[in-house]
Amino acid sequence: MTVPQPPEPIPGARLLFSLDPSVSHLNHGSFGAVPIAVQRAQQRLRDEMEANPLRFFTQGLVDRITHTRRHLATFLGADPDGTALVGNATTGVAVVLQSLGLRPGDEVVTTDHGYGAVAFSVERECRRTGAVSRTVPVPLTATDEEVVEIIRAGLRPGRTKLLIVDQLTSPTARLFPTAAIVGVAREQGVPVLVDGAHAPGMLPITVASIGADFWVGNLHKWAYAPRGTAALVVAEPWRERIQPLVVSWEQDSGFPTRVEWQATLDYTPWLAAPVGLFTLRSLGLDRVRAHNAALAAYGQRVVGDALGVAPADLPEPGGPTVAMRLIPLPAGLATTMDAAQALRARIAERLAAEVQVASWKGQGWLRLCGQVYNTPDEYDRLAVRLPTLLALG
Ligand SMILES: Cc1ncc(COP(=O)(O)O)c(C=O)c1O
Repeated sequence: MTVPQPPEPIPGARLLFSLDPSVSHLNHGSFGAVPIAVQRAQQRLRDEMEANPLRFFTQGLVDRITHTRRHLATFLGADPDGTALVGNATTGVAVVLQSLGLRPGDEVVTTDHGYGAVAFSVERECRRTGAVSRTVPVPLTATDEEVVEIIRAGLRPGRTKLLIVDQLTSPTARLFPTAAIVGVAREQGVPVLVDGAHAPGMLPITVASIGADFWVGNLHKWAYAPRGTAALVVAEPWRERIQPLVVSWEQDSGFPTRVEWQATLDYTPWLAAPVGLFTLRSLGLDRVRAHNAALAAYGQRVVGDALGVAPADLPEPGGPTVAMRLIPLPAGLATTMDAAQALRARIAERLAAEVQVASWKGQGWLRLCGQVYNTPDEYDRLAVRLPTLLALG
């Protein structure tokens, strides 16, 4: 079978980033990469802050954050009054969990495609409150209809106080039909938190169209914001119940300001985040999305071919703009999280390529991303060199 054509490159895009040119950066999904223009904008804000810290913090900062929040929420297709800026998706999840008022006997349901740190957060909140967590297994090959049905069957109305589902899963790079999942959960009276960590900038879906009770997403991954920029979106009936992790001076201001204001922090990532959106829009949002997804698909095929994986065994992500793709590793490799991390480090060191290696249910997976700064030859080089590295053990 023929490998799909790689997309036309976006001219000059690599120069927008300060990435080390001697490395192939094929894992945008984990920590993003901040364009130089965004770094500069943040530095200008830091210069302003250091020129007069008192003035920066006490004159208009809350209003500047409000203005920025409106800008970012509009981009996300979320109600600005229901959106709070937070430092990252993990924080947003923790804010929701500890605001629920879980009690002994209550349960929180997740899937086995969820993010590890979120699972830890659920476990701790359950231990603290006497609630229990339950993980619903969802086969990697399940169709959207099957996913919805499996999750629906996994809920216990009255007992399940929260369902957490990922919009695009991290270990399995799978798009979940979140709007349909929210629909069946609502029928059973189960509130849903959608973890959209990878959605902003990558997926064309608007937050409002999902209809979840809670949604969290990072702008510091695919929306080119400085690290520390994420949004927590809360449906109207829940807003008054949402409490910040840290109580500070804006506690009496209500949602969202009381969640956002976390004492003396560096708020410059949020204020610089609109420059990330500007960069994205300047390149052309649709063009970036199509490019990145096509490049990830290309990388998946060339590296998959090199490892002898039949095209039919390469997981489909479930959406046209998903820019992360999985390749199964040969049996026996990366079967545990430690082994996956060791292999990732070895690929970085020996092949000068940053990739994600995940272990999911005892199977090792390579996860490759596509971004505007990547070129097809980076995946070609990995395809040539990876089989030898893996064979060497
Ligand atoms: C699905 C998912 N949820 C949550 C996170 C956590 O993001 P952060 O470290 O920015 O909180 C990630 C990070 O990759 C993720 O993939």
